[in-house]
Amino acid sequence: MLRSIRFRLSIWYFTALFLVLLAFGIGTWMTMRRSLYETMDDTLRDRINGVRKFMEVQIEALSLEEIRQEFREHSVLGPGGDLFQVCDSQGNWLYRSAPLAGNEVGIILPLRLPEKGLYEDLTVQNTRLRTYSARVDMRGQPYSVQVAASVEELAEALARYRLALILMIPAALLVASGGGFWMSRRALAPVDRIIRDAQSISSQNLQKRLDVPMSGDELQRLSETLNEMLERLDRAFRRITQFTADASHELRTPVAVIRTTAELALRHPRSTSDYLRALSDILAQSERTTELIDSLLTLARSDTGQYELRLSPVDLGEVIGEAIETGRRFAATKGLEFKASPAKQDLTVMGDAQSLGRLALILIDNAIKYTEAPGTVEVRVSSTGRSAVLEIQDSGIGIAPEELPYIFERFYRADPARGSEAGGAGLGLAIAHWIVQHHCGEITVSSVPGGGSTFRVSIPLTMPTEIASN
Ligand SMILES: Nc1ncnc2c1ncn2[C@@H]1O[C@H](COP(=O)(O)OP(=O)(O)OP(=O)(O)O)[C@@H](O)[C@H]1O
Ligand SMILES: [Mg+2]
Repeated sequence: MLRSIRFRLSIWYFTALFLVLLAFGIGTWMTMRRSLYETMDDTLRDRINGVRKFMEVQIEALSLEEIRQEFREHSVLGPGGDLFQVCDSQGNWLYRSAPLAGNEVGIILPLRLPEKGLYEDLTVQNTRLRTYSARVDMRGQPYSVQVAASVEELAEALARYRLALILMIPAALLVASGGGFWMSRRALAPVDRIIRDAQSISSQNLQKRLDVPMSGDELQRLSETLNEMLERLDRAFRRITQFTADASHELRTPVAVIRTTAELALRHPRSTSDYLRALSDILAQSERTTELIDSLLTLARSDTGQYELRLSPVDLGEVIGEAIETGRRFAATKGLEFKASPAKQDLTVMGDAQSLGRLALILIDNAIKYTEAPGTVEVRVSSTGRSAVLEIQDSGIGIAPEELPYIFERFYRADPARGSEAGGAGLGLAIAHWIVQHHCGEITVSSVPGGGSTFRVSIPLTMPTEIASN
């Protein structure tokens, strides 16, 4: 639970939202506070300007007592104008409004006041006040004029706003996080389904697929990708199972023949020549079995990547020499004409000499096996300039066009071959195909049923520079 994506997403979301709301709250509160104070300061300044206008026009007409009287009237009438005091440069009071007079609210002498006036925050009788003092000249004498206003209302408004924020932020957080948790739960629900589906798939039901949510999002792509992977695994698994089944089937025949031959030979005492025949039959079958096991091992190792080809620059014409000699011998025993034209030039390819020899032997073996006397088998080596080409042509039974796509598959044997004694296990061309692939080459076949076949292998030639660097 703690490590689930859903939980972590919710925590992230909650934290981010909390920080945003907190910043928003503090920001708006501070902006509001500043603007309230600015408004208040403007009002205070306006009041002093009013007083200044009044004082500046007093030219000897009124006595100080009359001015004091004017102030009193003014301060009683003006809105909030009751907090107000004036003193001269010696600190003598010209006027003090009643609420301030009873409390010692200090005032700075006019000559000490800064040019722009002075704002101060005070508490008088448990009431918070903001004062503004400025210098005003009257009849050539400097005076300090101080006005004040209560900040209680302003502070109350700020406190109310703060309270609203304190109540609303957690509520908004709660609602939004709940919504977020619910949304992530909904969004990630398909993941649980994918997990359940995937858990139910094993080697027994590899053909089963995951349900794909048609949401067009990552989860759909994930399911599709997993399904594609399952498809590949399924195909590989089926191939391996098929291979094992075919291999056991193929091994059964020679082993059964060996066993019956031995049993028959042992049933009664026999002549030496009978024993010799039985033994040579057994030997022949054993050789066939060994060959088969060898092929199977090659393919099994190639599947697991254990079969390593050691590629080095080799001359194609040279490495197939032995295969040609073996072919010549086989062809002679079968009464076939065998032609091998040597290469006219050096055909250096990056290759594994032994495997290339085996490749040639597989193709020559097929050509001889599927050709009846009188017939011809011809091996040609040439070059296209970029690739070395090995061609093996026979005048044998040929392959039907509909069988051509399958002959490189494991255990595949075309119909005429299956019936005949000559037919092998059907692994030769599969091995040949694998060898060619590992040499980055290509193998193709053209064939006319009854008219013979030509197998053509091309392997890229090594450029002289490549040899030098190797
Ligand atoms: N030169 C050819 N002429 C006619 N048919 C061929 C020729 N080469 C291959 N084929 C057909 O392709 C099939 C597959 O060949 P492949 O060499 O893989 O198997 P195989 O010769 O039957 O057995 P193995 O080579 O394992 O002993 C053969 O059974 C045969 O039907
Ligand atoms: Mg073969």
